[in-house]
Amino acid sequence: MYETLLTSVELGILTITINRTEKLNALNKTVMAELEQAIIYFEKDESAQAAIITGSGKKAFVAGADISEFNGLTAGEGMGLAKRGQEIFFKIENATKPIVAAVNGFALGGGCELAMACHFRIASENAQFGQPEVNLGLIPGYGGTQRLPQLIGKGRALELIMSGGLINAATALSFGLVNYVVPQEELLDKTKAILKTIISKSPTAISRCIDAVNAGINNQAGYDKEIEAFGECFATEDMKEGTAAFLERRAPVFKGR
Ligand code: COA
Repeated sequence: MYETLLTSVELGILTITINRTEKLNALNKTVMAELEQAIIYFEKDESAQAAIITGSGKKAFVAGADISEFNGLTAGEGMGLAKRGQEIFFKIENATKPIVAAVNGFALGGGCELAMACHFRIASENAQFGQPEVNLGLIPGYGGTQRLPQLIGKGRALELIMSGGLINAATALSFGLVNYVVPQEELLDKTKAILKTIISKSPTAISRCIDAVNAGINNQAGYDKEIEAFGECFATEDMKEGTAAFLERRAPVFKGR
């Protein structure tokens, strides 16, 4: 049914697995479009009361937006990319049924942002989280500048976003970014066990829980500022250097322009 996703429903729980193992499940345009379709379908699917988003393979949940698709984009196109990413991730955040991220490895950049758009997160012991966009002369563009401070506080979020550093699963747990850390082979069972309890409750009450919590936390001006700032980076020499350096497997040389 999908080119880049695997989906299955078991006992009322839909599992969506992003399946680009050889590119560490990086979010290219196809993955993003298919994720959007999968969420739209999930909303209508009466056989599924909850969903899990995870990554294929043992190494990565999602290693970010697909950097190879950034090449040659203008500032306006960069803004369009962020706007589209934000729209899709808002569909996840505002879903009427619970969606949980089962983070099975690297959750970097757009991968960390995808996990944060989910209603909560469970991690395997090998998971690592970060917003490494500054290494590319970029900033997070799919809501990371907004959701990371919500989840872990402004100081920790700004340190992570400005340093491009990674945190391991234990640190993510202590920061409140994830709710549990479990061995990788137990990740899906643990996530399903939590969802089993949730879907035994009233679905109409559950959707109102999501709605009410979300109504209290989002400031649209912050998301709009992120789109603008992300797009502006595409007009800089630093962003061209940073993305070229990643694809050429070398360290970038930034000049501040
Ligand atoms: N976009 C596009 N391709 C990506 C990618 C991304 N975000 N992350 C990984 N890949 C690709 C690599 O280019 C490589 O492809 P290749 O085998 O065709 O050369 C493949 O996935 C495996 O990644 P590799 O870098 O060889 O694995 P590693 O174990 O050495 O390093 C990471 C793992 C996650 C540390 C490293 O891949 C990385 O830093 N990725 C980018 C993270 C990032 O900056 N994300 C934010 C993007 S906005």
